[in-house]
Amino acid sequence: MLFITNKYLKPGMILAKDVVLSSDSNFSALLLSEGQVLNNAYIRKIIHHSIDGAYIKSEAFEDINVESYIDDMIKTESLTQIKDVYYEFKMSSGKIKASAIKQISSVVDDLITELLRKDDLTYNVIDFKNFDIYTYQHCLNVALLSISTGISLGMGDHELHELGMAGLLHDIGKMLIPVEILNKPGKLTEEEYEIMKTHPVNALKQLRNLVSTNVLRGIESHHEKLDGTGYPYGRKSDNIHYYGKILAVCDIYDALTSDRPYRRSAYPNEVIEYLMGCVDTHLDYDILSHFMKVIVAYPIGTFVKLSSGQLAVVVKNYPENIMRPLVRIVNSDGTVGDDIDLFHDIGYMNLTIVDMGYDYDPTSLTGALKSAYETRIVS
Ligand SMILES: [Fe+2]
Repeated sequence: MLFITNKYLKPGMILAKDVVLSSDSNFSALLLSEGQVLNNAYIRKIIHHSIDGAYIKSEAFEDINVESYIDDMIKTESLTQIKDVYYEFKMSSGKIKASAIKQISSVVDDLITELLRKDDLTYNVIDFKNFDIYTYQHCLNVALLSISTGISLGMGDHELHELGMAGLLHDIGKMLIPVEILNKPGKLTEEEYEIMKTHPVNALKQLRNLVSTNVLRGIESHHEKLDGTGYPYGRKSDNIHYYGKILAVCDIYDALTSDRPYRRSAYPNEVIEYLMGCVDTHLDYDILSHFMKVIVAYPIGTFVKLSSGQLAVVVKNYPENIMRPLVRIVNSDGTVGDDIDLFHDIGYMNLTIVDMGYDYDPTSLTGALKSAYETRIVS
């Protein structure tokens, strides 16, 4: 399959994955099913719902199989539980019940079970977030990425559970921040920023008797920086809780790869470069290097430009080096060429990826999209 942005979706293309719509009232409404042949009305539907693109079937790339990071049912159930707890916290002006924490704890158990049974922890899928439910999706993603990083770091079950709890609850304090500040499209004033900076600590009092001290320390320190310029306390490296250091990496990554009211999302490779630039001043190097075994710079099924000027599609990622995947060349005449292993093949070490974009026009890919276009002709 190939990922095609909505701008280049064409009638006749066949969906390789369900197109799911997330909204505040329904986290997984099925918009279009896998196998559906696109027509103009369906494409308009995708665009209307601001979905950036879709995975499309392709004979030349049928060996690329993009799987959801966790089971869709578990994801929907997790989002529902997170929303319940966050919403209750907001409506009660900051009260939290033991039953809510039990709910969150069982979500964490499910996530850990799900992640431990995966053969491959790499986060290869393009996961579009919905503005309305950003906070819940963000907390779920931070928990997932933190647990996966924890697994890579060799953490045991108890630590993974604590880390997952801190991940799911890390931004619950935001529910007490006025929406006008939270979703402000422009830069916050100094006064607004001071209010924003209370979110890592303003839920701690309520959580104190319900979660372990490690979970509390993780939550309160997810915006601290190694050089002491973070908040709320301005603590320096050794005084920042280990869970907080892991959450910080996952929090920044997920936030920057998401559209926000004040900016568009960045591509994963750009965010990875940014994170690497934050090592030592802000982020812990060892944690970041394990995190970089989980996420990928170039998700499989997406287009990249090589330094040779050639267009290629990412086929496989290597956790040992997420910047140099295996790619398949797309020739200028639209046919599909050889696979090039940018990590293992010494003959190609001088080739680099110079540009990534989901946004390449695939219409010249006559060979690659053969099956889709044949269907269009038949139908
Ligand atoms: Fe936060």
